[in-house]
Amino acid sequence: MNTIKSNPIGFFDSGIGGTSIWQEVNKLLPKENTIYLADSKNAPYGQKSKEKILEYCIKNTEFLLNKNAKIIVVACNTATTNAINYLRENYDIPFIGIEPAIKKAGLVTKNKKIGVLATKGTINSKLFEKTSNKIDHSIKIIEQIGYGLVELIENGEIHSSKMEKHIYSCLDPMLKENIDALVLGCTHYAFLIPQIKKIVGNHIQIIDSGLAVAKQTKRILTSGDQINSTINKKTFHNFYINRESKTLVEILKKHNPIKVIERDF
Ligand code: DGL
Repeated sequence: MNTIKSNPIGFFDSGIGGTSIWQEVNKLLPKENTIYLADSKNAPYGQKSKEKILEYCIKNTEFLLNKNAKIIVVACNTATTNAINYLRENYDIPFIGIEPAIKKAGLVTKNKKIGVLATKGTINSKLFEKTSNKIDHSIKIIEQIGYGLVELIENGEIHSSKMEKHIYSCLDPMLKENIDALVLGCTHYAFLIPQIKKIVGNHIQIIDSGLAVAKQTKRILTSGDQINSTINKKTFHNFYINRESKTLVEILKKHNPIKVIERDF
């Protein structure tokens, strides 16, 4: 790595889901400047072809590089599982990806039944298949596509009764299989944890990858000597979205010190 340490960490996602990852990174690395791109106009990625997802990821990467990102967090499981290899091979900065935390679930399950709630694009990806094959074969993985969840979140319906019904119908097949660990394989789903907990109670451990991504980002920046060491300067957090989104504004309001929301992408 050979960039300016005060350059921002870049993040992108198909929309607002990756802000759940941004929050974890910001908590762990509060002195880092950040820049976040929500490609909400093209959400959901999960239903798109691999080629289309790759095209969006390239466009998002170029945008963040133009804004001098020193590292890019691909804050989207669908984008990671379909495009991270290409991005790493074709760009000269580090990329941090996020994948469903199956390995961790494999370690916590007691009855050897884990559920994975993710998008179609993630579940059908080669990388997901590869990761699933790596865990203990006596563990049963029950995969479930989170139909409609991303759309409802993007449309500001996180707390609606329609959402509750959708969540229930996604969880039901896994509950019938008696899972005791549930992997949230999409960054958007982190915003549904309270509703999911209401349905699954305390018997099922909910696992997401936010903290692991934050730790990995810190590790890579540290090993490349790229931690921002500029002192006495206020950090900046710039958010870009290419579609009107009341949900994003609402989420970011709760998490100061966010100052700028631009919509010019
Ligand atoms: N946040 C994305 C993920 O983690 C959502 C995918 C989508 O847009 O369908 O997979």
